[in-house]
Amino acid sequence: MIAQYPVLVVGDANVDLVVRGDVVPRFGQVEQLLEHANLVLGGSACIMASGLARLGVPTAVVAVIGDDEFGRVMRDALVAAKVDVSALQVDPQVPTGISVILSTADDRAILTLPGTVPLLTSEQVLAAVESSQARWVHFASPFLMPEFTAGLPTLLAKLKGRGIRTSLDTNWDPANEWAGLGEVLPLIDVLLPNRAELDAITAAVGEIPCRVVVKDGAAGGWSRSPDGTTVRAPGIHLDVVDTTGAGDSFDAGYLAAVAHGVTDEATRVRWAAVAGSLSTRASGGTGAQATRELLTEYLE
Ligand SMILES: Nc1ncnc2c1ncn2[C@@H]1O[C@H](COP(=O)(O)OP(=O)(O)O)[C@@H](O)[C@H]1O
Ligand SMILES: [Mg+2]
Repeated sequence: MIAQYPVLVVGDANVDLVVRGDVVPRFGQVEQLLEHANLVLGGSACIMASGLARLGVPTAVVAVIGDDEFGRVMRDALVAAKVDVSALQVDPQVPTGISVILSTADDRAILTLPGTVPLLTSEQVLAAVESSQARWVHFASPFLMPEFTAGLPTLLAKLKGRGIRTSLDTNWDPANEWAGLGEVLPLIDVLLPNRAELDAITAAVGEIPCRVVVKDGAAGGWSRSPDGTTVRAPGIHLDVVDTTGAGDSFDAGYLAAVAHGVTDEATRVRWAAVAGSLSTRASGGTGAQATRELLTEYLE
């Protein structure tokens, strides 16, 4: 099978500093010793783009980085992952964002400097769509990018007019208001929340008008069409090292299935859940993302 859909991924680019060990801070100038610290590619959009490219889908990313060391780490990591970075934007005035992730096997706390992340505009995204062959656009973390998100309904209407299909992983809304989704969701093909986000979004907008593909941690995930038909798929049991970005790898698995021509919805969810599970084998979002070959091994 060849990938039918070149995919454009739009959203957040930041480095992640993932630390593991004695990570619960104690104030009073206490020095605690860690077991691991890894500076890696972060941002839901970039982790997702890396996962898609690794699964053999031609993928480009649209996001903003700064002209600094962390920005170079991001660009190099995306290039190494074979993601097309020609639409990556650089703002020389603002530092690249960073998240410090205090990670344990079953939970994590995240300290984030947004940096360049909020600077993305819908004009930049439209220009990237126009200069690409993309037939599918995935949006990640809109609540971190207020200017872009204000223009999202107009942008989505334009994409729809061109026959381009779309998916959205909102991630958590730091304001916990979930504003604007009532206008956005009717224009989206697939929403990809985790369970907590699904509950918050449902409370905010009521019935969700598009297909919803839900991440359910160790249990895998499920997909519900607007008519209520639901299919489920389990992930796989393995020794979890770090779940950072597992949801983004899940998104990548789902869209890779779509792009590779898988039409059975339960099989798409299975690709997603297995891709999510496999990504938890190493620290950071992209360190253990599956190749097409590895995914296929686990699917069989
Ligand atoms: N403990 C786990 N064991 C196996 N797979 C997991 C585990 N946690 C997450 N996953 C995989 O990663 C996917 C996304 O994880 P989840 O934590 O639900 O999303 P998010 O990272 O968005 O919060 C799950 O659907 C599953 O496929
Ligand atoms: Mg997520």
